[in-house]
Amino acid sequence: MQAKITALGTYVPERIIDNHYFENIVETNDEWIVSRTGIRTRHFAAEYEYTSHLCLGAAKNLVEENNVMLDDVDFVIVATVTPDQTMPSVSTQVQDKLGLRHAGAIDISAACAGFSYGLILAQGLIAAGTHRKVLVFGAETLTKFTNYEDRSSCILFGDGAGAMLIEAAPKGNILGAITGSSGDGGKELYMSNMRKQINGQDIITDNKIHQNGRAVFKWAVNTITAQMPILAERSGLSLADFDWFIPHSANLRIIEALCTQTGFPLEKTLESISIYGNTSSASIPLALHRGIREGKVKKGDKIMLIGFGGGLVYAGIGLEWAV
Ligand code: UT7
Repeated sequence: MQAKITALGTYVPERIIDNHYFENIVETNDEWIVSRTGIRTRHFAAEYEYTSHLCLGAAKNLVEENNVMLDDVDFVIVATVTPDQTMPSVSTQVQDKLGLRHAGAIDISAACAGFSYGLILAQGLIAAGTHRKVLVFGAETLTKFTNYEDRSSCILFGDGAGAMLIEAAPKGNILGAITGSSGDGGKELYMSNMRKQINGQDIITDNKIHQNGRAVFKWAVNTITAQMPILAERSGLSLADFDWFIPHSANLRIIEALCTQTGFPLEKTLESISIYGNTSSASIPLALHRGIREGKVKKGDKIMLIGFGGGLVYAGIGLEWAV
């Protein structure tokens, strides 16, 4: 059996925050944020709203929009770096609240590449024949871990969740995959409450997000530019055959740079950064869902999605949209 993506759902918290909000917190302004990142708004989770709640919102939306049943889901993967707590996992909370009595459940940690990793793992479980229906989430409440004294990062993050259903089918729609990591760049983007050093460099242990923006920007553009043709080839296609490219929405300028360097048309990219900010593992499903709602993505379209972020780590898949 092969893995087929059969449904997508998303959820964002109600509260919308514009760029002016940050002008009272740090020295910044709307013009800088829009021109350097492309972000205009983001959504903030309420005090009582955690990552598991966002997952449930995305699952509810998936069920409502796709007319599917989740009862027989046999595995739940939640990609997140902002779990409600370390233990129990978010995935077990979601399994319980959704009443998925026969489902295995794990959280995975691959930052902004987490959703892509989740899809690759789901494909593997189905290809191995051990599972038939896997629910993959990319979900974050980053704003609970944001350092509001750091103007270069506090303006970036938003909260949200995406959910995808992957089922066993005679003919799948995942065409190819790439994965990779550069652990030596761990110190460039981290969140820690335990260690005092990463790769011999002192780190701050306040459990807030710390980022060397320029270093991550450069790594992302160089790495993903090189990986795009490789993923196309593994998908049995050329880059030009893809109808849509969905890189992780970290910064609009990264998306522009990827297109400039590879010649891929910018108008064939989908993004969630402008209205949702950087939502880490949720950014790709949010961008895809936005593209579907706006009538851009059609059945049969070839889509390349690549996540990248803290680790440093990346992963991507090529797929044919079949919903
Ligand atoms: O999601 C995981 C992966 N993450 C990424 O891919 C993030 C990649 N990095 C980025 O998106 C960008 O590096 C940032 C948006 C984080 C920062 O943008 P930048 O253009 O790289 O800015 P910078 O850090 O090089 O700073 C340029 C200037 C500095 O001032 P000086 O030293 O030139 O006087 C900063 O202090 O901009 C200043 N600055 C700001 N000014 C106004 C930094 N943040 C702000 C701000 N408002 N919010």
